[in-house]
Amino acid sequence: MISVTNICKSFHGKEVLKGVSLDILEGETLAIIGRSGSGKSVLMKHIIGLLQPDSGTVTVDGININNVSYAELRSIRQHFGVLFQGGALFDSMNAFDNVAFPLRTFTSMSEKEVSNVVKNCLDMVELPDVGKKLPSELSGGMQKRVALARAVALRPRYVLYDEPTSGLDPETSNTIDELIQSLADQLNVTSIVITHDMHSVLNVADKAAFVHEGRMQWTGTIPELHASEDRILKRFVKANEYLIGV
Ligand SMILES: Nc1ncnc2c1ncn2[C@@H]1O[C@H](COP(=O)(O)OP(=O)(O)OP(=O)(O)O)[C@@H](O)[C@H]1O
Ligand SMILES: [Mg+2]
Repeated sequence: MISVTNICKSFHGKEVLKGVSLDILEGETLAIIGRSGSGKSVLMKHIIGLLQPDSGTVTVDGININNVSYAELRSIRQHFGVLFQGGALFDSMNAFDNVAFPLRTFTSMSEKEVSNVVKNCLDMVELPDVGKKLPSELSGGMQKRVALARAVALRPRYVLYDEPTSGLDPETSNTIDELIQSLADQLNVTSIVITHDMHSVLNVADKAAFVHEGRMQWTGTIPELHASEDRILKRFVKANEYLIGV
């Protein structure tokens, strides 16, 4: 379980997170939604310990990650698979080496074991034959899928996806959503999906957390989201041109 408790974070005097709290339970898929610039990616970086809050705490399985040594943090981070906004494959490495990277960096697996795991991960994202291709030789959707394969290579307990479908056409977005769901089922992971795509939220999430102007404006299940009378949430959903509750 991940607990974010009352975190505040400012950059150059500008308050980005103004006391955000959030619990993420084992096995659930949570969507973090909110407008561009509302602080979603900053929140995600706190959850994986890439940023330190000015105040407040983040605990992962009961351990306060702001209060541990670098070695401990590194070992906790191995439980996290992350798909960064933009995909962020290493341009100079082919798909195979991209997926192999966390295995070679964090484990003492032999090259034969690495090869087996990489093949298995590329199979899971339905790209069994792209190992030798460089990112520049793959479409945007395929790059996302390779990045997904890399995110789950270490068999994480938590997978965080930052805007996994942005910039993709609706059909490719659906494929990515389906993959997120199937990885959640196959690997039994807890998933956190940051998105402003309401279609995606309804496709994959059990719960949603709505960040608005640096605060946690609303959290609840998808049926609760349909029924919510929260004015700001409704406006956000409506702006996404997705009529819910119909
Ligand atoms: N490292 C940083 N230094 C200074 N300001 C930052 C930093 N990271 C984020 N910010 C600021 O924090 C605010 C929130 O950024 P964040 O990336 O979390 O937005 P977001 O909700 O993820 O938006 P988007 O949907 O566009 O990705 C922005 O105003 C951004 O400029
Ligand atoms: Mg972002």
